Amino acid sequence: MKVLVIGGGGREHALCWKLAQSQRVHKIYCAPGNPGTATVAENLAIEAHDTQALLLFAEQHKVDLTVVGPELPLIAGIVDAFEARGLRIFGPSAEPARLEGSKAYAKNLMARAGIPTAAFEVFTDADKAREYVQTTGVPIVIKADGAAAGKGVVVAQTMDEANEAIAAMMERKIFGAAGETVVIEEAMRGEEISVMAFVDGDTVKPMLAVQDHKRALDGDRGANTGGMGAYAPVPVATNEVMQTVLRTIIVPAVEAIKQTGIPYRGVLYAGVMLTTRGAMCLEFNCRFGDPETQVILPLLQSDLADILCAVADVELEKTPVVFAPRAAVCVVLASGGYPGAYEPGKAIHGLESAAGMDAVAVFHAGTAQDDAGKTVTNGGRVLGVTATGDTFSEARARVYAAVRKVGFDGAFYRSDIGARAEANAE
Ligand code: AMP
Ligand code: GLY
Repeated sequence: MKVLVIGGGGREHALCWKLAQSQRVHKIYCAPGNPGTATVAENLAIEAHDTQALLLFAEQHKVDLTVVGPELPLIAGIVDAFEARGLRIFGPSAEPARLEGSKAYAKNLMARAGIPTAAFEVFTDADKAREYVQTTGVPIVIKADGAAAGKGVVVAQTMDEANEAIAAMMERKIFGAAGETVVIEEAMRGEEISVMAFVDGDTVKPMLAVQDHKRALDGDRGANTGGMGAYAPVPVATNEVMQTVLRTIIVPAVEAIKQTGIPYRGVLYAGVMLTTRGAMCLEFNCRFGDPETQVILPLLQSDLADILCAVADVELEKTPVVFAPRAAVCVVLASGGYPGAYEPGKAIHGLESAAGMDAVAVFHAGTAQDDAGKTVTNGGRVLGVTATGDTFSEARARVYAAVRKVGFDGAFYRSDIGARAEANAE
């Protein structure tokens, strides 16, 4: 079969890499892709948001399955457009994708479905929002309602920070329309995990829990980033914890969406905080996480194309989703300066030698090809290097050996990804 993957980051490279291992897949296209996806797929000069061009391509080239990586095309309704033309596509349609597209929608659904989550209020008026935080005090969490590229959440520790977040989102509109409505919610404390599940509308099959390292520096210090690495499975997410997350968060969300008349099909991603009150839902995403996908797929033993087709065809119940009983660690190599300003265009060395190592995969996130055909940096997060092992200590030793082989001017990475899991396991 022919598969089209939409997107161009580390998540999409991991999707292409895994699909290329399927016996059923003989051709992969990636739009727009990156130099990493080009090693396993044919990149197309079509942007991820260009639904019409993607539709036309899928029709003309008889693509059997389209897989959507990023959230924006899903929220914009790419699945509805493909399905209206009889094309098979993996991902939720626009209505259920509002779970990620609107935090107010997600929180109201959680409340309706009895899903444990932080107490919240929704505001469209900045003065009312300010009055409200006067009554709650700090810490308090201010969230832009719409998609803000992962930057729309402020955990305010002081009243000044809370008022500044309200002014920036609602009055100065730094996220445009996405911040005209805000959700203000109670701050929670605990370990955060990402739980993703394949959902075909009826059947739910969970993946392993993943933990993402969001801060720039070792010891969870420094600025918040899009993610500096991840590992799976998460030792604190025991079988019992995972059963609770499924029973109290994922399944009730799937059921509540079904009642709206348009079932959820695709990956449902729950950001979960393990608090003293139990597992609480922070947010839902309507797609594969990034970098989560870069540690999950190297552990997946089942055929990814089988699973994605089964979700699209509502046949997940009879399709196995099996993970290897191993550990995976993904370390992100970032450009000097990230998450602030950085300079792109640095030559990357050692890619082949790292990727050639046993049980190692090097996924491209922010890379490009220069005029001379050399691979250069082209983003804040440049590469995700993943290794698997029988244990976390084996996976960590392997991933850092691989990371030391690659580099570019100004590269930095955290040296403690998965360290807590390794310590827990000993
Ligand atoms: P979200 O996009 O809603 O997951 O928020 C992004 C990040 O903000 C989360 O991964 C948490 O680290 C933090 N966060 C969100 N909501 C809360 C909350 N209610 N309490 C504490 N931290 C939160
Ligand atoms: N790693 C967080 C996300 O994919 O949203």
